[in-house]
Amino acid sequence: MSRRACVGLAALLGAVAVGIYWNYDGFDPESLRGATVVITGCSTGIGEEMAYQYARLGAKILITARRENRLKEVVAKAKSLGAQEAHYVAGDMGKAEDCERTIQTAKEKFGQLDYLVLNHIGSKLPNTMEKLLSGTHWDQDPDMDYLVDFLNVNLVSYVRLASLALPLLKESSGHIVVISSIFGKVPLPTVSYYSAAKFGLDGFFSSLRVELMKAQQDVSVTLVVLGVVKTQGVLAYQKNEAFLKAAVPVNETALAIIQGGATRAREVYHPFRSTWPFATLRALWPGLMDNIAVNVD
Ligand SMILES: NC(=O)c1ccc[n+]([C@@H]2O[C@H](COP(=O)([O-])OP(=O)(O)OC[C@H]3O[C@@H](n4cnc5c(N)ncnc54)[C@H](OP(=O)(O)O)[C@@H]3O)[C@@H](O)[C@H]2O)c1
Ligand SMILES: *[C@@H]1O[C@H](CO)[C@@H](O)[C@H](O)[C@H]1NC(C)=O
Repeated sequence: MSRRACVGLAALLGAVAVGIYWNYDGFDPESLRGATVVITGCSTGIGEEMAYQYARLGAKILITARRENRLKEVVAKAKSLGAQEAHYVAGDMGKAEDCERTIQTAKEKFGQLDYLVLNHIGSKLPNTMEKLLSGTHWDQDPDMDYLVDFLNVNLVSYVRLASLALPLLKESSGHIVVISSIFGKVPLPTVSYYSAAKFGLDGFFSSLRVELMKAQQDVSVTLVVLGVVKTQGVLAYQKNEAFLKAAVPVNETALAIIQGGATRAREVYHPFRSTWPFATLRALWPGLMDNIAVNVD
C-alpha cells in the first residue's frame, strides 16, 4: 500500500474518531476543591503546569522532583494561585526510599489521598529530552545500563508509588492518573527504550485496572496518551517541523489530564487528532502502522 493510501486511511480513521468522540461525563471543577493530590515531576513542564491548575481549582497538593530550589518556587506560586495547601518532597523517584517518603508525607500532611498523578520522566543522564530526540537507533548505541536506569525511573517507580498509595486511594475511592505518550501505543524508530517504559505502564496499569474492577475496588486508573506538547524541553530539542507544528500548549494539556482524572476516564488522548487515530490503527492493523512508522522522518 502506498504511503498516500496509508495517510488517507489514517485520516479516515481520524474522521470516524471525531464522529464518535465520546463526551467526557460532566467535569465538575468544584469536585477538586479541597481534593488531595500527589503529582510527580513538578519542577518543570506538564507537571509544573498541573500543579498550578490544581492550585487554581483549590486543591491540596504535594509535588515532587529532584530540584528543591525549583519545587520551592512552584509551591510558592501554587499557594498564590489558590492552593488550599502546597507541599513538596525533593527526591529521586528512582530510589525506593524517596518514593516511600513521598507517600508517607502525603499521609502525614493530608491524612488521606484522592489523586496520585504519575508524570515524571527522567534518567541518570543530565538531559533526557536530548537523548530522546537524538534520532539514534537502539542498535547504534545499545546501552543496557541506561535502559535499566530508564525503566527503573520511568516504569518501576510508577508501580512502586501506586502500590504505596493504594491503601489510601481505596479509602477515598481515589484516582490514579498515569501519563503516557503516543509512543506508549505506537512504536516508532529511535524511541525503543521510551516505548519500553510507556508500553510497560500501559501493561501494568491496564492489568491493575481490571484487577481493581474484579475486586470491586472503586479506584479509577486513567492512562493519558499525549502527542507533542510545547514544553521547554520539546521546544529546545525537537527539530522536526511536522512534530513542532502538531504541538499543543502545556496549559490545555494539563487541563485535559485533570479533567480525565476527575471524570474517571479509562484513557485520555490529547491532542485527540494526532494520537487516537494512530493508536487505533495500530490496534486494528499493526502491520500497516509499522509501514507508516518506517516512513516517518
Ligand atoms: N512534552 C511532551 O511533548 C510529551 C509528549 C508525550 C508524553 N509526555 C509525557 O508527559 C510527562 C511530563 O513530560 P514533560 O515534557 O513535562 O517532562 P519535563 O519537562 O522533562 O519534566 C520532567 C519532570 O520529571 C522530573 N524528574 C526527572 N527525573 C526524575 C527523578 N529521577 N526523580 C524525580 N523526578 C524526576 C523533573 O524534575 P527534576 O529534574 O528536578 O528531577 C521534571 O520536573 C512525561 O511522562 C512524558 O513522558 C510528554
Ligand atoms: C492557555 O494560555 C493561553 C495564553 O496565555 C490562554 O489564552 C488560554 O486561555 C489558556 N488555556 C487554558 C486551558 O488555561
